[in-house]
Amino acid sequence: MPFTHRHLIDTEALSRADIEIILDRAAGYAEQNRSKNKKNDKFNGKTSVNLFFEDSTRTRTSFEIAAKRLGMDTVCVPVAQSSISKGETLLDTALNLDAMQIDTLILRHTQDDAAQLVSARVKAHVINAGNGKRAHPTQALLDAMAILRRRGSLDNLTVAICGDIARSRVARSNIRLFKKFGADVRVIAPDYFMSDDFNALGVGIHTDLKSGIAGADAIIMLRIQHERDGLGIDFSKVAQNYISDFQLDHEKLKAAKPDALVLHPGPVNRGVELTDELADDPEHSVILEQVELGVAVRMAVIDLLLSQD
Ligand code: NCD
Repeated sequence: MPFTHRHLIDTEALSRADIEIILDRAAGYAEQNRSKNKKNDKFNGKTSVNLFFEDSTRTRTSFEIAAKRLGMDTVCVPVAQSSISKGETLLDTALNLDAMQIDTLILRHTQDDAAQLVSARVKAHVINAGNGKRAHPTQALLDAMAILRRRGSLDNLTVAICGDIARSRVARSNIRLFKKFGADVRVIAPDYFMSDDFNALGVGIHTDLKSGIAGADAIIMLRIQHERDGLGIDFSKVAQNYISDFQLDHEKLKAAKPDALVLHPGPVNRGVELTDELADDPEHSVILEQVELGVAVRMAVIDLLLSQD
């Protein structure tokens, strides 16, 4: 079955077969990225534009490196110094970049449906690099690839996602992906970081870390997204309790499978989500493997989208 999507908006639209095609293509690129010559010229002469309305280190750099390794020219729009500060809308900005005959538009935005809206109007292939609280598909794909590498299969895993669930697009995209592989997915958070929409996603809901990670193959820890809309709590007042109840350390990890993997999309706030010892423990932590495989996954996505032209 061929890959037929024009854009990558979320994992929701991808079938299990689509995901397998992406991860399979990414495996080849992971090898290329470790070889002497990291670059091919498959998409020489094509142009990739990063349009990021939110801060980013990993995702933005990863997309830029991915496009360059495929031979593309890349441009990062400096949003803070752009005409967006003069009141230009997202759609007008996107249409103007599209008029420059670009090939891929990589979009990060605060609005949940930004990539969807833009993709309906531009000729370029749109890749969602994180939209609002709803979707971050390449993060979910690279998380899946990191787990696949260590586990050998994505079938029927127990995956726990813990932290600021309410504001997490990483949680939502991962749930949609792992459910396609028959996973038992659980979300773990105190009430103030939980959100009603998770009831409809077919996940187990836990307010206790130990019960949530019991028997887990993989645990995805999430950062507290203070920069997004407030949830009506003063976190500084509950921070100490949060850390004692929800920070993952080697002791609490004993509730999971003995070889459980610990993931984090980054940026990590050391000493909040995870202890330093666990974040840096190569037996469990795959945080830097996620980052490495992120480049390969993004190369695969760009490749599969552009190959349809
Ligand atoms: C995440 C994001 O931006 O959604 N980070 C990332 O892309 N690596 C999660 C976060 O910012 O906490």
